[in-house]
Amino acid sequence: MSNKTITLINNSDGRKTELPLYKGTIGPEVMDIGKLYSEMGIFTFDPGFLATGSCRSSITYIDGDKGKLWYRGYPIEQLAEHAKFLEVAYLLLYGELPSVDELAKFEHIITHHSMLNETLKNFFDGFHYNAHPMAVMVGVVGSLSAFYHDSLDVNNPRHREISAHRMIAKMPTIAAASYKHNIGEPLVYPRNDLDYCANFLHMMFATPCEEYIPDPVATKAVNLLFILHADHEQNASTSTVRLAGSSHANPFACLASGIASLWGPSHGGANEAVLDMLNKIGDAANVDKFILKAKDPNDPFRLMGFGHRVYKNHDPRATIIRKVCHELLDSMTDSDNPTFELALKLEEVALSDEYFVERKLYPNVDFYSGIIYRALNIPRSMFTVMFAIARTVGWMAHWMEMMDDPDQRIGRPRQIYTGHDLRDYVPMDKR
Ligand code: CMC
Repeated sequence: MSNKTITLINNSDGRKTELPLYKGTIGPEVMDIGKLYSEMGIFTFDPGFLATGSCRSSITYIDGDKGKLWYRGYPIEQLAEHAKFLEVAYLLLYGELPSVDELAKFEHIITHHSMLNETLKNFFDGFHYNAHPMAVMVGVVGSLSAFYHDSLDVNNPRHREISAHRMIAKMPTIAAASYKHNIGEPLVYPRNDLDYCANFLHMMFATPCEEYIPDPVATKAVNLLFILHADHEQNASTSTVRLAGSSHANPFACLASGIASLWGPSHGGANEAVLDMLNKIGDAANVDKFILKAKDPNDPFRLMGFGHRVYKNHDPRATIIRKVCHELLDSMTDSDNPTFELALKLEEVALSDEYFVERKLYPNVDFYSGIIYRALNIPRSMFTVMFAIARTVGWMAHWMEMMDDPDQRIGRPRQIYTGHDLRDYVPMDKR
């Protein structure tokens, strides 16, 4: 750790303090403002955390200006090309790529945790038939703490690990069951002879009436999308999981809060919103009209799948997905090419428009992921659920890292109070 400091002087009262400057492995320097209030009597103000780090983390590194994304030091491009999703999950959870034996053991554990408690089925039945699968996910995942009393001691590292295994294993089963409930088909049990992604497709699309063989092209595409979505450092949902967990809430409750945060259209819900938007645009002839709407400060419409808080050059995940969209759609006869063509047209117009160039707004991962999911016959309401399955790995890795961090304290931001100054209670008959 560096012994560099920054001197801060309050010009109005002359108070002065030295604040430590930290440096991570790479990335900009970070000023530790922890003693600002005790020494200077002031708080910082940074809505949306534009310049605020909330923790130390060794899981994922992003350089938004250069479009870099690394998991535990490995570039996303290499992982996307070579790895299996559970291999990446192991890497994110434990910090190193697994050996052959370690991966086999990990796969065995995850596979053998994928069944749900039978009583959990009653929860699904409690939801209205047309409930959005994300609503079901928030409720069902939150309810899991009522089932696993054997591993709820958040101060016990082994309990934390078991919870992480359970969540990674059960999310595809819960997700597929949410979908089956939605379409009125019987829930499909997991199959231990299939790998993680193929098993998910099986639980989504199999019925008791006939044999289902997962398509290897679809399985490969899901594997890739899951890897790309597995973690993204301190994004809104991960920060939500960390904040919920900072009170030592149980991991299932924390995860339910992460799923709720992910659902928003500014975050993971954008993949569903992109397809809604493309449907609304309908035809390349309407692109200019919608670009004008997106640029109008008085119109709430935004180009969904465009822009990112951190990436100001390109989103490396979008670059990978765009290429796969081309390959996948070319290889599928009944694919959704008109939607992809429209997306490409929209991208082309936006990227040459001064408004988007000036604000460094590029297509993000969600601009293309929905197009791939649709080509795989995954319904729109399941797009964000797919994101949630993959991000469960990141959420659990961050939760475990946080619970192990000696600096961990309950998260408790401060505020600028803008309400009334002190005033006296007015009796009812005098108001
Ligand atoms: N369409 C039109 N204008 C936009 C867009 C957009 N998609 N995104 C940002 N802007 C404008 C915004 O109006 C603002 O303009 P001005 O400076 O004139 O006020 C400027 O660009 C900066 O935007 P911001 O809202 O301050 O940026 P932010 O970092 O707070 O928000 C964002 C980032 C991703 C929420 C936002 O770009 C957005 O709403 N994008 C559409 C939703 C989306 O695709 N979300 C998925 C994000 S990637 C996956 C994930 O993280 O889950």
